Amino acid sequence: MLAESLNPLDLPLAEGLYERGWVVVPGFLSPQEVTALRVELVERSLRAELTPAGVGQGDEHQMDRNVRRDRTRWLEGDTPAQQHFLARMEQLRLAINRRLFLGLFDLEAHFAHYPPGAFYRRHRDAFRDSDARVVSAVCYLNEDWQAGEGGELVLWPQPRSRTVAATVLPQAGTLVCFLSEQVPHEVLPTQRDRYSIAGWFRRNTSIDGRVDPAG
Ligand code: OGA
Ligand code: MN
Repeated sequence: MLAESLNPLDLPLAEGLYERGWVVVPGFLSPQEVTALRVELVERSLRAELTPAGVGQGDEHQMDRNVRRDRTRWLEGDTPAQQHFLARMEQLRLAINRRLFLGLFDLEAHFAHYPPGAFYRRHRDAFRDSDARVVSAVCYLNEDWQAGEGGELVLWPQPRSRTVAATVLPQAGTLVCFLSEQVPHEVLPTQRDRYSIAGWFRRNTSIDGRVDPAG
């Protein structure tokens, strides 16, 4: 049997990305994976290792509390929980490339903590020709999220759409993938601490063998 037919997630995931531009996969992370990552994230947050997230890149980078209020920290692969997570994301990268030929080259990912009241207004993660981000992937680490606690991820199908495509609870283990250039999205104000990992599969924009630094 071919290795590529072993992972039952491959096909629906690639089909969702291809046909709609987004896909939701409940139970992508196991309860054990979720717990290990959440323990690390909560500890880092308590140790004040997360910093307010900014908006825009390079010279345009600025803190705008009207746009987003999450706190983040890049994954550097320096703990077993992160290494395991990054290995899972590497499998996902290969699976997407195998099916869709998107030429995903690497991943940048950060822990994110949205304290109560935090949100992230409607935005896209990339713009054509100005960003290496191709596929966004968000994993949630929150046990027993209830409808009514806010913090939902809202997706629209196209840059100009006004009709919502999906509203996703940030439930432990759920993975959401979408095309970074295509899909506007928003995090509604949360009423409880909301923990997640947001990652971006990037194309190779290196020049002369020098790979773009993570933005
Ligand atoms: C982001 C983002 C969505 C989420 O970090 O760019 O849109 O559900 N996150 O946390
Ligand atoms: Mn985003």
